[in-house]
Amino acid sequence: MKKILSIIVALFVAGFVMAAECVIVPRPALFEAQKGKFTLSSKSVVYVADRSLVRPATMFCTNVADEKGVQLLVVNGEPQTKNALHLLIDKSLGEEEYTLEISKGGVVVKGGSEKGVFYALQSLRQVVFHSKQKGKKVVVDAMTVKDKPHFAYRGGMLDVCRYMFSVEEVKKFIDILALHKINRFHWHLTEDQGWRIEIKKYPELTKIGSVRAGTQVGRYSKREAPVFDGKPYGGFFTQDEVRDIVRYASERYIEVIPEIDMPGHMVAALASYPELGCTKGPYEVRKMWGISQDILCAGRESTFEFVEGVLSEIVELFPSKYIHIGGDEAPKHRWKECPDCQKRIAEEGLKDEHELQGYFMKRVEKFLAKHGRSIIGWDEILDGGVSKTATVMAWRGAKRGIMAAKLGNKVIMSPTTYCYLDYCQTSDREANNEPLAMSVKAKLPIRKVYSFDPYDKLNEEERKVIIGVQGNLWTEYIPNFKHAQHMLLPRLAAIAETGWSYENKDFDDFTRRMHLLRKLYEKCGYNYAPYFFNGIE
Ligand code: ACM
Ligand code: ZN
Repeated sequence: MKKILSIIVALFVAGFVMAAECVIVPRPALFEAQKGKFTLSSKSVVYVADRSLVRPATMFCTNVADEKGVQLLVVNGEPQTKNALHLLIDKSLGEEEYTLEISKGGVVVKGGSEKGVFYALQSLRQVVFHSKQKGKKVVVDAMTVKDKPHFAYRGGMLDVCRYMFSVEEVKKFIDILALHKINRFHWHLTEDQGWRIEIKKYPELTKIGSVRAGTQVGRYSKREAPVFDGKPYGGFFTQDEVRDIVRYASERYIEVIPEIDMPGHMVAALASYPELGCTKGPYEVRKMWGISQDILCAGRESTFEFVEGVLSEIVELFPSKYIHIGGDEAPKHRWKECPDCQKRIAEEGLKDEHELQGYFMKRVEKFLAKHGRSIIGWDEILDGGVSKTATVMAWRGAKRGIMAAKLGNKVIMSPTTYCYLDYCQTSDREANNEPLAMSVKAKLPIRKVYSFDPYDKLNEEERKVIIGVQGNLWTEYIPNFKHAQHMLLPRLAAIAETGWSYENKDFDDFTRRMHLLRKLYEKCGYNYAPYFFNGIE
C-alpha cells in the first residue's frame, strides 16, 4: 500500500515537474503546457513557407546559435525532414498575432504577417533559451501559445541629444526593444543641448548646433549656479547612418518615429541660425539642463520655411506614419515681447501666446499631412487648441492623456509617474548606490511601472482612443550606453507587459519570469539594474 502510494506521489510530482511553465515576457494571451518534448539540434531545419520569412528565421537562428550554441538551417519550402520548425503566414490571424505549437514531432509557427511570425520567434527564442541543454541538443517542452498584443502602439524613446550614442549602441537599443515586442522607436534627435541629425539644407545645424562648449556637472537646480566641465561635447548622425538605423529597425518590425522638437528645445538650432529666434541672438548651444526661454519665433515666415526645409528631409529619411513635433516646455516670455509674434497673434485673431503655439503646431501638422504623415505632440499641444487629428503623448501625468481622450484625440500614455525611466529605481537612491537620476523626489521602482493602467478613469468610449504606452529615456544624467541600459532594464519589460499583455498582468508571475529573462539579458551582455532582482524597491 505504502509502495503504491509513493508511486502515485512520484507520478504526481513527475507530472507536476514536467508541466512547462510559461517563461515568455511579455506574458502571452494563452499558454498551455502539452505532453512531450521536442529536441532541437543542428539537424533541425527551419522551413519557411514564404520568402519574406527567411530574414526573421535567419535572425532567430543567429539568436539560437549565440544563446545555445546550436546552428540551425533555414530552407524556403515545405518541411521535408523530421524535427522541423515550420513557419508560415496565416491571414486569418491579426497582423501582430501568432500561434506557436511545440510538440514532439516539431514546431509550427503561424503569424498573421511577417511581424506576427517575428513575435512568435521572439517568444520561441526565450523558450529555447530557458530549455535544457543536453550536449549539442536542446530539449524543449511541448506547449501551445496563442498570442496577440493589447495595444497597437508600444514605444521606447531614446534621447540622443543630452548625450550621444553610437550607431552600434542605438542598434543595441533597438535589439532590446525587439526582444520585448516593442514596435515603435521614438528617436529624440534635436535639443537645446545638441542637434543630432544631418540636414543637408542647413549644414550649420550640425557644424555649430551639434557641439556644446561644455556640460553641466551634477544635478540641475534653478537655485544654484551651474558648474560646467569645460569640455566640448558633440556628435551627430549622418543621413546614411540614419538610413542604416531605420533599415535595421524595420528588419525588426520597429517603426522609427523621429522627433524634431519645436518651438521649444531649439537652442542648438538658434545657435546655428540666430535669425530663427525672436531676439535674433546671439545664442550658444546650451550647456546646462532645464528649460530655455529662447524658442523659435512664431511670427516670422522664415521660421516656417526653416521648419518645412528640415521636415522635408526628415520625411525622406523616415517612412514612419508619425512624425513627432514635440511641443513641450515652450515658455511664452519671448513671444510676449516679440513684435513679429504679437503681429501674428493680432493678424490671426489669436487669444494669446498659447493659441499662437496652437497655430504653430497646426500649421506644421498641415505641412506634414501633405506628405501623408500624422503628428504626435507632447501634451502641451492641448493648451493652445489642438486639431482632432493630432496624437497626444501624455507625459505630465495620465490626467493629460485623459483630457485628450475626452476630446477624442488619439493618445499615447507616457506619464512621468509610471513611464519615465530616467527616474531612480529604489526608494533610497543613495543607500542603494543608484547613480544620479532625474528627479530627487520621484521614485519609479519596477512594481510601480508595472502597476500602470492606461485606461484608469476612462469610460468604454474614451478607452478606444488610447493607442498605447511608451517608456522614455531622457539622458541628462545618462552619459553612456552602459548607464542607459541600467535605467532601461528591467523596467522596460514592465512597460512592454502593460503594452502587450494588458488584460493578463500579474506582478508575481512577472517577477518569476523576469528572474529567467535576466539570464537572457546576461547572455546578451545587457547591463540591467540589479535592485529588483535583489528584492530592493
Ligand atoms: C518632456 O519630458 N519634456 C516631454
Ligand atoms: Zn517672435
